[in-house]
This record gives sequence, C-alpha cells and structure tokens, in this order.
Amino acid sequence: MLEIENLTVEVGGREILHNLSLNVMTGYTTVLFGPNGSGKSTLLMTIMGFSGYKVKSGRILLNGEDITHLPVNERAKRGIGMMMQRPPNLTGVRLKDLVRVTNKGNVDTDKIAEELDMSRFLERDVNVGFSGGEIKRSEILQLTAQNPCLILLDEPESGVDMVSIEKLGEKVHDLLTGPTHCAGWREKSGKAALIITHTGQILDYVEADRGYVMCNGTVACSGNPRELLAEIRKMGYQECIRCKLNQANLIRENIVSEG
Ligand SMILES: Nc1ncnc2c1ncn2[C@@H]1O[C@H](COP(=O)(O)OP(=O)(O)O)[C@@H](O)[C@H]1O
Ligand SMILES: [Mg+2]
Repeated sequence: MLEIENLTVEVGGREILHNLSLNVMTGYTTVLFGPNGSGKSTLLMTIMGFSGYKVKSGRILLNGEDITHLPVNERAKRGIGMMMQRPPNLTGVRLKDLVRVTNKGNVDTDKIAEELDMSRFLERDVNVGFSGGEIKRSEILQLTAQNPCLILLDEPESGVDMVSIEKLGEKVHDLLTGPTHCAGWREKSGKAALIITHTGQILDYVEADRGYVMCNGTVACSGNPRELLAEIRKMGYQECIRCKLNQANLIRENIVSEG
C-alpha cells in the first residue's frame, strides 16, 4: 500500500502541498476530488517522482519502503504507473515503440489498441497532434502495457467524448482488476489505484472504495466517494472547504458506533 505522511511539497519555489497525509490500500480504489488548483496533479507528480517537485518534509512509503527520494524509474520498477493530466509531446518517438518498451510481455497491445480505436496512431509520434481524447486513450494503452500495481490516474475522462469514454472506462476497469506482476505486491490482494476526477464520470466504470477531497494543498475531508460526489454536485466545493462534510461524516460515524 501507499502511505503519505505529512507531505509538504514546493514547486517553482512555491509551497503547494502542506502537511498532506493519505493512504491508498492495496486492493482498493481511492478517488481524489478537489477544485482546480488545489494541488491534485502536484500530489500525483510527487508520488511518481518527477523532477521539480521538491519534498520539503514528510514521507512517501510504498509497501513499507521509503521512496520519497527515489528517482522516477526506480518507482516505476516498484510498480507505480501514472496517466498524466497533460503529458508532453514526444517528437521522434513512435507510440508503437513506447508501448513495446513498456510492455512486460504479458499484454496483447495490438488488440488493446484496436479496442481503443488507436491502431492507426501506433505509427505516429506520441501525442503529437493528438486530440484531448486521443491523448487519454494513448495514455491508457501505455499504462495497460506497463500494467503497474499502483495506478495513478489524473483526470482520465477529461476531454474524452461520450462514445470514447465507454471504451476508456472499460479499459480502466480492466487495468484495475487484472492480474498483478509486481515484486513486493501480494497477487491476492490486487492492485491499488488513486484516481483524480473532477466530474466523477469515471465512477460509472470503477468500484471506488474511499474518497478524499483536497483543498488548498491539503486533504479537507474523506469518506464514501459516491456520497462525497453527491455532496459536491449539490453544494459545490465551497462547503467542503469549510469541512462540513467531514463533520457530517464524524457525526454519522458516531451515530453508527453508538448503535
Ligand atoms: N511548475 C509550477 N510552478 C509554479 N506553480 C505551479 C507549478 N505547477 C503547479 N503550480 C501551481 O500549483 C497549484 C496546484 O496546481 P495543480 O497541482 O495542477 O492543481 P490541480 O491539479 O488540483 O488543478 C496551482 O496554483 C498551480 O498554478
Ligand atoms: Mg490537475
């Protein structure tokens, strides 16, 4: 599992994440909500280990190992994979070659590409001239080839049209529920996922177990993801910033524990 303990992160000389803690359990799908600019992408980029995300304090533990200062390739080797919100264009790198390199040999990527309607993109340079939806489908194709055990998805549904969202949602579901091949991960308990969603659409395709809401660079509240989404849709994020949901959850938990 992934444990984030009191993480404070600086980007471009500015503190973006403040004393943030959360857990992602193996075998569970965790969803991260939050308004634009609250630091969701920064958190995922920091977990993956991209340069420029400077951890000032706190720790990131993966299956008990402190990975806070490991380079991105070492994290990938340990089974972390990520779908970026805005991945870069890779001029001179064909999608086909990238998918071949990331594939551990267990995935029929030609078939997945066909199912994602991406076959004609395999010869093209990664993301160069791709539409928003094509970028997301290309990202899920690469992730399926990599088959990571901790799956980080940054707004998988954004920019995807109504027809493609079904294909994408199905592939996300397959990726989350498929077999694991990562050292240090227990096959039986499955994979772990942390999914950022703004609209909540992806919840139509995946079983989510736990939800967190981020505000101003830290976790404001947590709870059942569907309940959180319903509250956010009804009241917007403003109420959440005031932590009304958290209080409501506490009261509910107390009522339950008191029978
Ligand atoms: N490279 C950067 N330099 C300076 N500020 C940044 C950088 N990247 C992100 N930020 C700032 O960090 C904040 C959080 O951004 P982000 O993590 O992308 O939020 P979210 O994904 O929740 O919309 C924003 O105010 C954004 O402008
Ligand atoms: Mg973002």
